[in-house]
Amino acid sequence: MVPLIDSHAHLTDARFQEDFAEVVARAKAAGVTTIINVGYDLPSSRAAIALAEEESSFFAAVGIHPHDTKTVNAQTLQELQELAAHPKVVAIGEIGLDYYYHHAPPAQQLSVLRQQIRLARQLSLPLIIHDRDAHDDVLSVLHEERASEVGGVMHCFSGDLAFAHRCLELGFYISFAGNLTFKKAGALPEVARQIPLERLLVETDCPYLAPVPYRGKRNEPAHVLHVAAKIAELRQLEPAQVAAVTSSNARQLFALDRIS
Ligand code: NI
Repeated sequence: MVPLIDSHAHLTDARFQEDFAEVVARAKAAGVTTIINVGYDLPSSRAAIALAEEESSFFAAVGIHPHDTKTVNAQTLQELQELAAHPKVVAIGEIGLDYYYHHAPPAQQLSVLRQQIRLARQLSLPLIIHDRDAHDDVLSVLHEERASEVGGVMHCFSGDLAFAHRCLELGFYISFAGNLTFKKAGALPEVARQIPLERLLVETDCPYLAPVPYRGKRNEPAHVLHVAAKIAELRQLEPAQVAAVTSSNARQLFALDRIS
């Protein structure tokens, strides 16, 4: 079995509390050797670090999600900076813009995104970007804040091929989640077919977005296999090849070999 990396999980979510050990055991049995748990506010960022301290194969990303930017102040960013110094923190994320839910005003989302990109550059950490219905603004901010100096990943990619190319030009990776396997996947299958293999990552974003055949259920890292298998099917490759390349890509982006 070729090892797989789930590049974006939220095992800190309360939905994993009851059967956490079983979820981790199923991931290992499925070949998912490495999991990056991603924070979306200060408590979840702290929790992701705590998990990484317990499990050698877990890493953490810390950041403030656009939904949670309303209450961010200088103190929040100071605390985030302190958390980001932890040796198992491999990225700043998830950060970005969400113009679909609009839980926070765009101006606030933009300001907090900019400040977190600056923090990432200061610490030389890559970015995990959340982008929902905000493609143009995300690209502008990434350019203006010189995000290409640290690179990153467009998590749970939701754009078309033209947008994917603009992200690739910035030096970013494209990560696919379970929605690639849905019947109504829009432009995603085409993007997964066309972009260079060495820029692809796979993720679950669990507990959300379970791939077919688990759609609608709680997602978990073991299911990342189905995302890799879908990419393999689209590109007429063996799932093992997709697993090998996406794992190598994740190791490179997050500099995992420097730590483990
Ligand atoms: Ni997420």
